[in-house]
Order: sequence, then structure tokens, then C-alpha cells
Amino acid sequence: MFTLPQKDFRAPTTCLGPTCTQDQGSGHGDDLEGECSRKLDQKLPELRGVGDPAMISSDTSYLSSRGRMIKWFWDSAEEGYRTYHMDEYDEDKNPSGIINLGTSENKLCCDLLSRRLSQSDMQRVEPSLLQYADWRGHLFLREEVARFLSFYCKSPVPLRPENVVVLNGGASLFSALATVLCEAGEAFLIPTPYYGAITQHVCLYGNVRLAYVHLDSKGVKVKGLILISPQNPLGDVYSPEELQEYLAFAKRHRLHVIVDEVYMLSVFEESVGYRSVLSLERLPDPQRTHVMWATSKDFGMSGLRFGTLYTENRDVATAVASLCRYHSLSGLVQYQMAQLLRDHDWINQVYLPENHARLKAAHTYVSEELRALGIPFLSRGAGFFIWADLRKYLPKGTFEEEMLLWRRFLDNKVLLSFGKAFECKEPGWFRFIFSDQAHRLCLGMQRVRQVLAGKSQVAEDPPPSQSQEPSDRRR
Ligand SMILES: Cc1ncc(COP(=O)(O)O)c(C=O)c1O
Repeated sequence: MFTLPQKDFRAPTTCLGPTCTQDQGSGHGDDLEGECSRKLDQKLPELRGVGDPAMISSDTSYLSSRGRMIKWFWDSAEEGYRTYHMDEYDEDKNPSGIINLGTSENKLCCDLLSRRLSQSDMQRVEPSLLQYADWRGHLFLREEVARFLSFYCKSPVPLRPENVVVLNGGASLFSALATVLCEAGEAFLIPTPYYGAITQHVCLYGNVRLAYVHLDSKGVKVKGLILISPQNPLGDVYSPEELQEYLAFAKRHRLHVIVDEVYMLSVFEESVGYRSVLSLERLPDPQRTHVMWATSKDFGMSGLRFGTLYTENRDVATAVASLCRYHSLSGLVQYQMAQLLRDHDWINQVYLPENHARLKAAHTYVSEELRALGIPFLSRGAGFFIWADLRKYLPKGTFEEEMLLWRRFLDNKVLLSFGKAFECKEPGWFRFIFSDQAHRLCLGMQRVRQVLAGKSQVAEDPPPSQSQEPSDRRR
């Protein structure tokens, strides 16, 4: 257990907005020296989670305080997404609908996936698939996951099926791990900006908070560290040396480390040199290192809901498996996933090369559009996102202006994610998702251009009537 602050506490940080304005580069933005190269701000922490007064202010007699907190997340965190679903763009049926450049999904390979998932080897119905199974997942699937991760993570030794738990997606896994690793009110450290929905994942069931690494903390017990590589929204990947330093840091403080590698096969620039934590010769603290992967991003199947945990810690695996009673996959889907993951020929020869080529082309298109607009951006060759610096469109440089600009995009029928949703320290950063079909990207960028051309009005607009801050912090 580790309690902050200690006077000279240092924790590693990932690349923050202001230091990352170049539009190219590879690898992780910061070098670590010793415990950490970067001095942390001397501010009090921003903790997110249960107990934030804002969460429980809306009263309803139908709900418990816990229910109100849970509802608060829904009300406040998904405005952009809800608006989008009421008016989704469709080329034929709703051409003036909203283009979604805000949700981190890969829509580039639906054709390949639907062909593969429609083949005859995917269709099997047998009694065992229709009955209750081991909550960790059927053994045939856990064996396949272990083989898959051993191969694609380049593990020095074969990974073991007994260390695998499968469940319905990365979000559930965050939720389960937070619940089984922490007491209510404890926290995980997380470098910012980060995939903001984790706030919700760790809080809803587990009542666990996040302590942002750009800050010191006050008296909250930190139980673990969350590392995402490739990172969302920055696309950064950690080098083996950086991974070792983070893991050694965590070991010194007896912290759990959750390593989220859900974008590991979405590295489309070879020069990036991505390395999975499971490829390391030796983990400093294997009992406290827990790796997650899912098909949501790397196989563009966020609607299918498949995720997996790899941990050598039997207690953690068993506790998570116990929660899988509420988060398991149907037997039929488990069967399909095993068939998919075992088909290395298709993955290596068809899917990955095509997926990477399409990601690269889409990335090039959006990068060029941004360059033409004179917008600096961070581009790492991994993931589905470009982290763009729109600070010049905020005359006063405030988060209110950032929100107004976001609304203006939405009003002009293009959904983006703004930096505040990722707890970016500095107003003016936006995440653009580029992993979509060319015609949608083209129309989306056209709408972005229109808004930016009318930029002078942004700061003068009256504040919106809603008191809550909108967010697309889910994905
Ligand atoms: C870094 C990261 N981890 C986990 C998830 C959640 O994935 P899933 O859809 O499998 O729940 C996301 C979704 O955006 C993500 O970006």
C-alpha cells in the first residue's frame, strides 16, 4: 500500500499536451531518469470517483445514493454520444446526420471481418456451448487466448491458459480489477491525458478513484498504476526500458500495475517498434502485473464484447472470474472467438496487412487535412486517433471555450472528443478518430473546416444552458 503525498514523491508521467505539439515522431515522448524525470506539479490532486459532491447533487427519490452516483455518470458523460445516436449520419437515409470522429472504433475492416465471421467454421452449436461454463471462460478459448497472446505479444515463454480469464470487454475488466484490488475510496495512479471512461469503469462498482499523475495527491491510498500502450488518446507506446522502469517503480511501492494493451495490433507504422509487456524477459513483480487485451479495437469489434485478462496471480484471476458471472460471454461467441484467434494465417496474411494499410491511408488523409489548416498535432503511428492542438481557436484559452468549440462542431454535425474528457491539463486539445471510411472522413473534415472558418464567434457565444459539462469520455 502506498499513500501520497510524500514530499519527494515522483511518478512517471506520459507525454502531456503542451510538450507534444509536433506532428510526427515515434515512441514515447518523455525520457525517464531514475524514478521519474519530470517534476510533478505541486498542486492538490484531482480525484475522480465516489464522493465527488457534484455526482450526487441531482436528487431522485427512486434511487439510492449509489444509484444516483451511477446515474450521474450516464447523465454527464455521454451527451455527445447520445446526441450522435439520435442523429447518426447515413449516406442514404440521413446524409445531414452527425459524423462521428469521436468514438474510438475501427470501422475500416467490417468487410473482412464479416466475411471471416460468416464462414462455416464459425457456426457450431453443441450442448456444452449452451450450458453454464467455467466463469473464467471455456478452456478451449483460454487455451487459444494463451497461444494468441504468446505469439502476438512475443512472450519469451508460452503463456498459460490457467492465467487467462475472458469476459465481455476491457471496460468490464477495469471494473472487475478495481473492485477486487482496491478498497472503496482507494485510487489508481494514471498518467494524463488518458482514456477518460476509466474514471467510470473503476468507480461504478468498485468505488475506486483515479489520481492523475500530473499531480501530487493528498492522503488517498494509491493501490495501483494504470499503463495504456499504445496509449489513448496520444498513441504513445512505452519502450521496454520505460516499461521496466514503471514496473520497478510499482514494485518498490507494492503497487499493482494494470497494463492495457487493447491497441497492440493497431500499430500501423513499423518504425514504432511496439513491445508488449508480456514480451519482457522478466516482470519485476508478476503477482502484481495484470495485462488486458480485447478484440474491440484490434479487430474492430467493439460491439461483440470480448476482453481478456492475463495475470499470474491466482487470487486476482479467481476473484475476477467470480465477477464474470455477470460479465461472461455466451458459449457461441466464445466458440467464434477461439476460431478467430487460432486462424493465424488469416490474421497475418489478410487481416493485419489490410487493416494496417487502411489505417495508414486514413491517418494520412486526416493528417494532411490538419496540416492544410495549420493545426499542429501529435501523430504516433499507433491507434485510431490524432491529438490535435486547437488552442489557437480559443482566444482566452479556457475550458469553457473548449466546450463551446466542441458544441459548435456538434451543431455542425461532427462529433469530436475534447481534451477535458481525457483530463488534459490544458484547454484546446481535441482527439480526432480517423479509422473510418473515406467518404465519412471527408465530410467530417469538411464540417470541421467550416466551423474553424467561423472561429471568431466561438468565444463570444453565451454559455450553454446546461450546467453539466458534456463529455465523450467513454471510449
Ligand atoms: C485504452 C482503452 N482501454 C479499454 C477500452 C474499452 O474497451 P472495450 O470496448 O473492450 O470495453 C477502450 C475503449 O475505448 C480504450 O480506449
